[in-house]
Amino acid sequence: MKLTKLVIGCDHAGYDLKLKVIEHLKAQNIEIEDVGTYSADSCDYPDFADALCKKIITGEYEHGILICGTGIGMSMAANKHKGIRAACCSDTFSARLTRLHNDANVLCFGSRVIGEGLAYDICDLFISTDYEGGRHARRVEKIDALGN
Ligand code: RB5
Repeated sequence: MKLTKLVIGCDHAGYDLKLKVIEHLKAQNIEIEDVGTYSADSCDYPDFADALCKKIITGEYEHGILICGTGIGMSMAANKHKGIRAACCSDTFSARLTRLHNDANVLCFGSRVIGEGLAYDICDLFISTDYEGGRHARRVEKIDALGN
């Protein structure tokens, strides 16, 4: 079932692409909360990963999108949060499978890695693909039980 709302964040490197992604998602009537950054001025991506993950951990949102230069720093920072399963995706297959098998709740990608067309396709798969559950449930539970 397609998501109806999500939270989005970026750093300076992801700022321009984030604005385009927001427009793309709003055109599909998806409600978006933007936790920043709100300009292309240099900033630290962990701050925005943290702000976004807190919105998910508290239950305000179930899913989020984080954009930085590579998507890697954002995914590393996001995955430090218990209950967050962030996937850095640069292709559509990974975006679909991380929903089906990993129940990823945060999608990350890099503005310096992919163009806007691919970013839109990756987002569309992420927001429209349901978690399969079944044999994957035990594995996802084990991910969530790891760490602090
Ligand atoms: C910022 O220059 C860059 O390091 C950041 O956007 C991201 O790519 C980190 O993983």
